[in-house]
Amino acid sequence: MTRAYSISVEDVTAERARVNEDLSQVDISRVIALDELELAEMGRRDVHLKILVVSGEHNVDHAALADTVNIAELRGGKIYPGNSAVAEVIATGSDVEAFKAGDIVLTHCNGEPDRFGYPKTIWAYDKTDSVGWYAEEAVVGDWQLVQAPLECGLNLWEIAALPLRAPTAYHLWRRAEGIFRLKVPAERLATLNVLGFGGGVSELFLMLARAKGHDAFFCSGSPERRDALEKLGITPIDQAAFNRFASRNDVKGFIKESRRLTGGEGMHLVCDMLRGPVFAAGLAAAAREGVNVSAGWQLSRDVDYNSAGASIKQITLDHTHYETLAGVESATDLYGRVFKPTIHREVYGFKDLPRALAEMHQNVQTGIPIIRVAESMPESAAALIP
Ligand SMILES: NC(=O)c1ccc[n+]([C@@H]2O[C@H](COP(=O)([O-])OP(=O)(O)OC[C@H]3O[C@@H](n4cnc5c(N)ncnc54)[C@H](OP(=O)(O)O)[C@@H]3O)[C@@H](O)[C@H]2O)c1
Repeated sequence: MTRAYSISVEDVTAERARVNEDLSQVDISRVIALDELELAEMGRRDVHLKILVVSGEHNVDHAALADTVNIAELRGGKIYPGNSAVAEVIATGSDVEAFKAGDIVLTHCNGEPDRFGYPKTIWAYDKTDSVGWYAEEAVVGDWQLVQAPLECGLNLWEIAALPLRAPTAYHLWRRAEGIFRLKVPAERLATLNVLGFGGGVSELFLMLARAKGHDAFFCSGSPERRDALEKLGITPIDQAAFNRFASRNDVKGFIKESRRLTGGEGMHLVCDMLRGPVFAAGLAAAAREGVNVSAGWQLSRDVDYNSAGASIKQITLDHTHYETLAGVESATDLYGRVFKPTIHREVYGFKDLPRALAEMHQNVQTGIPIIRVAESMPESAAALIP
């Protein structure tokens, strides 16, 4: 048995009833409960893990709110969330070759690659029978693991911030750049204007843009996160100055500012993981031939746009999800070299995980939330604790 957090449909329903279905009032910490779970029996290709550190991921928020789908209900009444972890290998099945006891590994969350490697489902979310890593131990298939890049220059908390967000950003980048280059080769335009809106994935997307020599712009409501990115050469834009695009005039002001910052050109690549009011602002700020990519729908699933206008400006909207397995490996190579995530100032304990996720929901954190699961750490991981 292991201790593991779960989200049950009873708790989702009770919390929604308590707030009269007003999702803005939901207390996420009342929906995520410390539970117990029987570990799966070890198969020949399985690995037994001791979970060391995890990060707060936004799909847990969606699971607790049941705002996109009621995933706990669809999965038979309960899910065990958590799809990003740093862990120590405790034991391996007889056919496992890539890992051995004592290795420090990362999990990824591609639950079920399609024939081209793209995930049909996400681990610990909609993948049937998958259990997540907001737990003290886990048994997973070896294909679900990557060696942790302990020498990459990041500390343990920074490494723990990346297993889900970095591959997502990497995939968004590959798609956005590739699509733009189909339309406008580097020979015609070497330096691009790249815009991202608040959130850990967008921040990493912009770090990729900077690393490739492009001009990057981060539009966020958080002064701490804007400051952190400015230190990496990414131009900050205060989203609060445009009232988070509440009215048409706010969007107009934002378009004017985007044009000013880019010498009248606009944004060639836009990463929008939020949708809702952010979508219209991102689309309007796009340059001709621009590409708007998204793998998220934090504020709204649905978007509405003027197709004729997008055609005339040659704008492409692209929808992506998580990376392929090969892409996960490549994204991991960029830890520290390109990806330098911003971490929330408090590192939470395992018992504080519900509070960490509630504070993520309230948007009061100064960076990505990290939860330390293991009290005692193996030496190689302990050496990376700041
Ligand atoms: N498909 C995938 O593989 C995948 C992977 C990762 C994430 N996602 C999804 O992508 C979304 C973002 O994830 P993330 O990890 O980047 O998020 P995150 O690091 O948790 O950040 C969320 C951001 O949302 C912004 N925000 C909150 N309320 C807002 C509002 N009312 N208006 C505008 N912005 C607001 C905040 O930015 P400010 O700085 O402006 O306050 C905050 O930094 C989530 O929906 C998540 O589920 C999908």
